[in-house]
Amino acid sequence: MQKLALLVVVLLAVPLAISRGTAAATVRMQVTHADAASGLGGGELLQRMARRSKARSARFPASPMSAPVSATVSSSGAFSPAEYTVHMAVGTPPQPVRLILDTGSDLTWTQCLPCPGCFNQTLPYFNSSRSSTFAFLPCDSTPCQHLDFTSCGNSKYLPNQTCVYIYNYGDTSVSTGLLNKDTFTFGVSGRSSLPGMAFGCGLFNRLFFTNQTNTGVAGFGRGPLSLPSQLRVGNFSHCFTAVTGSKPSTVMLDLPDHLYRKGRDAVHTTPLVQNPVYPSFYYLSLKGITVGSTMLPVPESEFALRNDGTGGTVIDSGTSITTFPPRVYRLLRDAFAEQMKLPMVPSNMTGGLTCFSAPRRSKPHVPKLVLHFEDAKMDLPRNNYVYEFEDEGDNFICLAITEGDEMSTIGNYQQQNMHVLYDLQHNKLSFVPAHCDKL
Ligand SMILES: *[C@@H]1O[C@H](CO)[C@@H](O)[C@H](O)[C@H]1NC(C)=O
Ligand SMILES: *[C@@H]1O[C@H](CO)[C@@H](O)[C@H](O)[C@H]1NC(C)=O
Ligand SMILES: *[C@@H]1O[C@H](CO)[C@@H](O)[C@H](O)[C@H]1NC(C)=O
Ligand SMILES: *[C@@H]1O[C@H](CO)[C@@H](O)[C@H](O)[C@H]1NC(C)=O
Ligand SMILES: *[C@@H]1O[C@H](CO)[C@@H](O)[C@H](O)[C@H]1NC(C)=O
Ligand SMILES: *[C@@H]1O[C@H](CO)[C@@H](O)[C@H](O)[C@H]1NC(C)=O
Repeated sequence: MQKLALLVVVLLAVPLAISRGTAAATVRMQVTHADAASGLGGGELLQRMARRSKARSARFPASPMSAPVSATVSSSGAFSPAEYTVHMAVGTPPQPVRLILDTGSDLTWTQCLPCPGCFNQTLPYFNSSRSSTFAFLPCDSTPCQHLDFTSCGNSKYLPNQTCVYIYNYGDTSVSTGLLNKDTFTFGVSGRSSLPGMAFGCGLFNRLFFTNQTNTGVAGFGRGPLSLPSQLRVGNFSHCFTAVTGSKPSTVMLDLPDHLYRKGRDAVHTTPLVQNPVYPSFYYLSLKGITVGSTMLPVPESEFALRNDGTGGTVIDSGTSITTFPPRVYRLLRDAFAEQMKLPMVPSNMTGGLTCFSAPRRSKPHVPKLVLHFEDAKMDLPRNNYVYEFEDEGDNFICLAITEGDEMSTIGNYQQQNMHVLYDLQHNKLSFVPAHCDKL
């Protein structure tokens, strides 16, 4: 595992296709992903995912003192290697953008000219002068008032009273720029155009991680500025294909019922909980965890959302691997260690991850992992919680879960080949095992 040379980046590039077969027009965004490197660099993929998940989980202040600041702190801080990047276009005529799909934040932004402080991107920067439908939003506009950190632009470089924003993410990622509106186009052939979408033109931006393929972030959170809120959809879903593969994934808005019919028996539904302190996040009620036949002795209060807004469990597309609070993580690790019956690799060699060394070319038994939510059971397939790889002939099995802060976060690694539906009308989340490449 010392041979961690390759940066493995899994990105999802999303040419959108709109299917309009049903009464409620479904916007279907197809997500393709590919490895940046030809082979997976042993444990590197997992270690990078773990670092980001940890960084992201650290976004919450332990003490309520910093709560006012953290109101804008978003979960998308962890731009993990397993990013799901949606292709859309902005402006008239449309200019392509590639935005990280983030259910943990609301603002959608892309880098814009003159871009005095932008990270490199392979696509051209968005040029608002080339769009006939582009308009600045003033600071007294409703979308501007939905942001926590804004000021009124009044310099000779800016139109008077322009909404200037700063949007922070917990891991030091940040975008600063101007709030605007313009037409968004979903679909490569421009078949679905939505005028007047509020979005940020990022002028000074930093991402924890970028391989230059993405140009910004698509906010799919619960706040009024997010894309689902602005589009007024009743629901959206994502279905992520295997992180380590290259098959296309799908994101859908206003998804028809019949797509769920196939696996109806296996559909699990749990309430979405609201946390007034962090209103953008999709909170779930996690009640317990079983490892094999062992129910971890975690008091339910350990998972509870506390009155000061700390704790609780969120589901987040912007995080790669799931994190649990330290005490829960230790119980989980110990239960695995006991049931795996394989030697554990010293954690100073694994970046703190729980890994076991296995006989060469073996496929050892791994205890089942089940997350028990209110009214719903997430029975994770093996590939959604262990990461197996070979390094210099040795075989390793690692738990793709790490220790985070007081809040638990269900990351996208755990959601592979699962169709996850956010029912915004009824405040419910459903999930069902699916072949995401065949949706
Ligand atoms: C980023 O990742 C994508 C998808 O794997 C790849 O096609 C692209 O070449 C990478 N870009 C850079 C600059 O490494
Ligand atoms: C961006 O690209 C330019 C030209 O390729 C390069 O000189 C510069 O170092 C890059 N900046 C970053 C932050 O990677
Ligand atoms: C932006 O678009 C305007 C109008 O087409 C053009 O004059 C200008 O050169 C463009 N800026 C850049 C940096 O491409
Ligand atoms: C900017 O707007 C304010 C308030 O509308 C106005 O008082 C001021 O004169 C304007 N300044 C310029 C340079 O237009
Ligand atoms: C999603 O929302 C649309 C329109 O609001 C509705 O017709 C459809 O039944 C919903 N789909 C599911 C799976 O709940
Ligand atoms: C890890 O710790 C063990 C002792 O617990 C030590 O022998 C070993 O050298 C350490 N390995 C690394 C890579 O630091």
